[in-house]
Amino acid sequence: MKDAYIVQSVRTPGCKQNRGLFKETRPEELISFILKAAVEKTRGLEPEHIDDVMLGCAFPEAEQGLNLGRIAPKMAGFPDSVSGATVNRFCASGLEAIAQASMRVQMGWSDVTIGAGVESMSFVPMGGNQVSPHPEFSVSDPDMYISMGITAENVAARYNVSREDQDKFASESQAKAIAARDHGLFTEIVPTPAYKYVSQEDGTYKKEAFIVEHDDGIRESSPEGLAKLRTVFAVNGSVTAGNSSQTTDGAAATIIASKEKCDKLGLEPIAKMVTYATIGCKSDEMGVGPRYAIPKALEQAGLSIDDIDIYEINEAFASQALYSIREIGIEKYMDRINIHGGAIALGHPLGCTGAKLTATCLANLKQVNGRYGIVSMCIGGGMGAAAIFEMI
Ligand SMILES: CC(C)(COP(=O)(O)OP(=O)(O)OC[C@H]1O[C@@H](n2cnc3c(N)ncnc32)[C@H](O)[C@@H]1OP(=O)(O)O)[C@@H](O)C(=O)NCCC(=O)NCCS
Repeated sequence: MKDAYIVQSVRTPGCKQNRGLFKETRPEELISFILKAAVEKTRGLEPEHIDDVMLGCAFPEAEQGLNLGRIAPKMAGFPDSVSGATVNRFCASGLEAIAQASMRVQMGWSDVTIGAGVESMSFVPMGGNQVSPHPEFSVSDPDMYISMGITAENVAARYNVSREDQDKFASESQAKAIAARDHGLFTEIVPTPAYKYVSQEDGTYKKEAFIVEHDDGIRESSPEGLAKLRTVFAVNGSVTAGNSSQTTDGAAATIIASKEKCDKLGLEPIAKMVTYATIGCKSDEMGVGPRYAIPKALEQAGLSIDDIDIYEINEAFASQALYSIREIGIEKYMDRINIHGGAIALGHPLGCTGAKLTATCLANLKQVNGRYGIVSMCIGGGMGAAAIFEMI
């Protein structure tokens, strides 16, 4: 197997669905921008060096359809020779794309690839525009189609994750994000153009661009304030808007190159993906996914929880993130987990998330001078994914 080195990893800010700064910016615009920016930021690399783009997207239809994996590099101005595919593993789509992009280089099938992710939940809502479950299967196995919020309630109830603990976890996520933003620690963010359509006197609309520099869902929160929020998925439940991930728009990209190509073009290796694990679990408690995926990845890599310097565990919901953290035995390492906050504060743009968390993980590893990082998330339908990265 060849060495496959990550030479760039960046993301756009994450902005709130429908009300945020990207609400009128199409997903093609977000992803083509970040692909172009990733290449431009990589000294020695030109678009014609890219062989293939693997693009994660959880709802690849409508504005995100028609193989956005091919459309986005073309919109970015890459030459015809750059091929592209769209990859879907729901919330792990972006991580899956980076794994597949790495594997292509490891196999010698490509020299330079991009693993990326995009989701505009403003343009294509969770579930897609037209949900059409299989008539018989949805009766025999309804759990495959249930709301993600209900699965979070199931995890909280079955494994005793209290409302108080969820709200404390959520307020800490917000506090960490505020501190990181205010200290300029989101070094993986590239200021990104957004668009708005401004009505003109003659009744037409003019498309105007502006730049977005920060995640726009971060907000001051206290456990006491969060405790006042009503539950949204179950009457006597514990999951609220405050301790759930935000629905978000965003894009991210990671460039991977063979050792030979790094040497030839003078590219500087940053990190590599050491291993990638996926695993299935019960659909009605899909949030437990990381609890199984992280130990599986560690075993594959011959590493232990103590070896990991940075954990980026997607906060789809506080209940499932906290449950997974406790079961894996890493509660003692809270200072290594989501050190700049997680999806509760920064948002969870579904198919982008794996690519977004990879960019964050590598930036955070650099900041703490760490060696190994894990990116992990739960996945709708009942799965978990985890990847281990090693800094070069
Ligand atoms: C939970 C969810 C339904 C909430 O959506 P929403 O109603 O649009 O959320 P909002 O941001 O409007 O928040 C609702 C209320 O809570 C309040 N709120 C939210 N976060 C808060 C915080 N941190 N502190 C205080 N109040 C907060 C809002 O101000 C709002 O109050 P209002 O109704 O008085 O205006 C949505 O975020 C969601 O579905 N999340 C999960 C997404 C998901 O399943 N992803 C896949 C995972 S696998």
